[in-house]
Amino acid sequence: MENKKTILVTGGLGYIGSHTVVELGALPDKYEVVILDNISNASIKILEKLEKMVSRKLKYYSADLLNTEELEKVFKENEFYAVIHFAAKKSVGESMTNPLLYYKNNVTGTLNLIELCLKYNVNNFIFSSSACVYGNRNDNAKEDESDLRPINPYGKTKLMMETILQDVARANTNFKTVILRYCNPVSAHKSGIIGENPTAAVSNLFPVIENHIRGKSEKIFVFGNDYNTPDGTAIRDYVHVADIAKGHIIALDCFGEKKDLMKNNTVIYNMGTDNGYSVMDVINTYIKAANANINFEITGRREGDAERSLPDCNKIKKELGWIPLENLETMCKDSYNWVIKCDI
Ligand code: WQD
Repeated sequence: MENKKTILVTGGLGYIGSHTVVELGALPDKYEVVILDNISNASIKILEKLEKMVSRKLKYYSADLLNTEELEKVFKENEFYAVIHFAAKKSVGESMTNPLLYYKNNVTGTLNLIELCLKYNVNNFIFSSSACVYGNRNDNAKEDESDLRPINPYGKTKLMMETILQDVARANTNFKTVILRYCNPVSAHKSGIIGENPTAAVSNLFPVIENHIRGKSEKIFVFGNDYNTPDGTAIRDYVHVADIAKGHIIALDCFGEKKDLMKNNTVIYNMGTDNGYSVMDVINTYIKAANANINFEITGRREGDAERSLPDCNKIKKELGWIPLENLETMCKDSYNWVIKCDI
């Protein structure tokens, strides 16, 4: 049997990170997982849950990407085949009010990580990016777009990190990077054991609905129904977090059997279902799928929102064969299952 590959998952106790740890953990003959998380937006309870889900202990470092000493210890004590880098602050709203926090945490943290990857010869780097880098686009943006204009500091940090990675990959023959631009990751693991952190301040639609159903809000607000869409509310490509997580396992092939897909040691993929759903589609589907009541009020548009954000996600399907399996109904069902089973 080929020897196991050790994968460093930064932000491995976070939303997408934890779901990816579960997928890696399901392949114990192929992968060893090392989790790095400063638990700034996660609970340490997630570690116990993950260990139960993968039925073994997981190596975990409580470390901050801004603390290079803590970070270097992780590299000294392990020999990594690849890094999957999720650790970042990710609230669009918070990034508008506190941009410096985002540039420091997301960009400086990633610079520290890349420096140590080069120092310790860790040359395979998967980066968790976002469709936010396309900015306010109403068409189906493709990966080879050059006109990227993110409209908030969160999206700008994602684009900066993509740019840094591509320049480093071009300058270092062995360093390779896969950049994954997620559309709207939502929902929760089908077991209901992990999902979106219920204690974080929420601004995204699904966690807002989840907290509403938990009784944490009287009603939810629909930001605008005067868009040029069938029902007037904005449209997004919602994609199940479990599908996103599975895509990261497939993306690891880009460093091996599928390395010819790279250009200048880089390959970029949009990750979504290529299906667009409006805010009201989500609410109506959720009510039906969860048989739950959702009290909502239509209000004005939210600053910075796009009418449609539907990047073209065909490239990853064609080149890697990643096919998202879940649809809006199962996303809502699994989200509701997480709400009723969540014990955090
Ligand atoms: C979706 C729609 C809102 C809340 C997110 C993340 C970003 C990135 C991409 C991953 C919009 C509407 C929302 C509410 C509402 N993710 N809405 N009432 O803005 O597309 O961006 O996905 O990398 O990190 O921010 O997602 O869920 O905030 O909004 O009407 O209370 O729901 O106006 O049309 P968004 P969102």
